[in-house]
Amino acid sequence: MTAVAAPQSVPADFLDEAMRQVDEVILQRLSSQVVLIDQIGRYIVSAGGKRIRPRLLLMFADAFGFSGHERLELAATVEFIHTATLLHDDVVDESSLRRGRPTANALFGNAPSVLVGDFLYSRAFQMMVSVERMRVLAVLADATNVIAEGEVLQLMNMHDPDLAVEQYLRVIRFKTAKLFEASARLGALLGGASAEAEEACADFGRRLGTAFQLVDDLLDYEGDSQQLGKNVGDDLREGKPTLPLLVALERCSATERELLRAAVRDGEVERLGEIIEIIRHTGALEATREAAQREVELARSNLDHLPEGRARDALLELSARVVKRSS
Ligand code: IPE
Ligand code: IPE
Ligand code: MG
Ligand code: MG
Repeated sequence: MTAVAAPQSVPADFLDEAMRQVDEVILQRLSSQVVLIDQIGRYIVSAGGKRIRPRLLLMFADAFGFSGHERLELAATVEFIHTATLLHDDVVDESSLRRGRPTANALFGNAPSVLVGDFLYSRAFQMMVSVERMRVLAVLADATNVIAEGEVLQLMNMHDPDLAVEQYLRVIRFKTAKLFEASARLGALLGGASAEAEEACADFGRRLGTAFQLVDDLLDYEGDSQQLGKNVGDDLREGKPTLPLLVALERCSATERELLRAAVRDGEVERLGEIIEIIRHTGALEATREAAQREVELARSNLDHLPEGRARDALLELSARVVKRSS
């Protein structure tokens, strides 16, 4: 009812009220009689986060004119799945900073983080069941399964300087883009989109998620830890070959290549400065941003299926922000 008064310059403002309601659902659904679950759950959720996946779901629901309560429940569900992956990912990556705070594993330990991650996954399943739609269950069960495959695939690729770019892209489509895809698809599905329109929305999500992870991998080299709320240089420290490094490996001199290969094999931090310099002067950072930009352009071409209006504007704005972001 208040949408008329919303300023036109910030297209996503119309989601503010719904996002506030999503946060309410998140807090309600987080509760458990088990004190440690409550404590860790609230710790990571109250630190914030960009809430990009629930926003994506709400934007697509709005695009198809759906305003039922199910959209709030499912928006909270995708954020729970995301949060569970973060709890697990920080254990696997041995990360110490997340959302500007010590990670749950740094503060509470690995075992509680993994177990509370499991709690959030299973709570997410309770929430999606409450919507009573088989397609919704299928989309989220698939997404959760593929994310797990992505994380394991990534583990198998660690310390491999010969990783093919295609294999790297496969990992990010699985571990990150799949949940973006599911979020977009669920919004369309709730809104009763045609099969063709639903696929276009899913493709938008998949490509946006791919671009999002490409930029995340870029920011791990050129970002600012304060702004990101995460440590930079984590990927190299653990020998994770990402696109900036793979491009630099292709373009650098033989001596530089030896340094980069050894860094991936051993997980290098001491010579991070030198390595960043190689990544910089080979143009690998620009190449990564350009790859993200290309994905976003392909993502945007799917929006022709949506009616013109605030949701489409917001999706265009969001996709531009994903490439430009520094946090
Ligand atoms: C972090 O996701 C994990 C990646 C897929 C790169 P976000 O950058 O969306 O994390 P929050 O929720 O905003 O903290
Ligand atoms: C994203 O990869 C992990 C998930 C999708 C769970 P990263 O390991 O790069 O994410 P950050 O940088 O720790 O947030
Ligand atoms: Mg990580
Ligand atoms: Mg990262």
